[in-house]
Amino acid sequence: MYHARVIVANNPEEAGKFAADVFEAEIAKKPACVIGLATGSTPLPLYRELIAREKAGKIDFTRVRSANLDEYKGLAPNHEQSYRKFMQDNLFDHISIRPENTIVPLGLAEDVDAMCDAYERMIEAWGGVDLQLLGIGHDGHIGFNEPDDHFPAKTHEVKLTEMTINANKRFFNSADEVPRAAITMGIGTIMAAKKIVMMVTGADKKEILKKTFWGKVDPQVPASILQFHPDVTLVCDKDAYPF
Ligand code: GLP
Repeated sequence: MYHARVIVANNPEEAGKFAADVFEAEIAKKPACVIGLATGSTPLPLYRELIAREKAGKIDFTRVRSANLDEYKGLAPNHEQSYRKFMQDNLFDHISIRPENTIVPLGLAEDVDAMCDAYERMIEAWGGVDLQLLGIGHDGHIGFNEPDDHFPAKTHEVKLTEMTINANKRFFNSADEVPRAAITMGIGTIMAAKKIVMMVTGADKKEILKKTFWGKVDPQVPASILQFHPDVTLVCDKDAYPF
């Protein structure tokens, strides 16, 4: 089964431009829209493009609200590898979005369940996510929703798999420093977004991309549930496109 609009770019930079077109259109249509944002290397060309387009007067982030997908458990917001810091460095510090209009799960929350509930309520109070950006892990994770026997609904704590720890150790001094747990929006939170853009680039993602959209819907490939979402745009590059 398969259910998405597919854009195949020549390279990651071009993929970033195509994804930026979707964001530019959404923000033009609804200046106070709620965007869901992702970390990882894949969205970087998109973030560079969004910064350039605001500087060029094509996008205005002053009324936009944003909610990030996930955060490592135990990392302070200013930790070099925290996802809050990643967002500040790669996007927020370079655009006009208001700090109070950006939310990222708190890695240091003492009561994780209460923080997760509050995160869900904040998104609801904003009227839900209009446009959600996603990357994908090699095991098909979205946010930090790892392969499982079910699709977790709401924002929750997860234990990271060895595969994810290994993939992400490149950002830390060693694998031992990678946090073993994270807080992530649930699959239900992600599926509730009105519109989704997934970016996938690089030959190493080809196999999982094929399973995600052209395989069966299975919680062992968390991203495969996107086949049931009515408005998904897949922006991949030639290297990741499986055909
Ligand atoms: C992390 C993030 C995901 C991201 C994935 C892939 O695990 N939690 O949101 O999609 O990495 O990252 P990259 O784009 O660097 O391959």
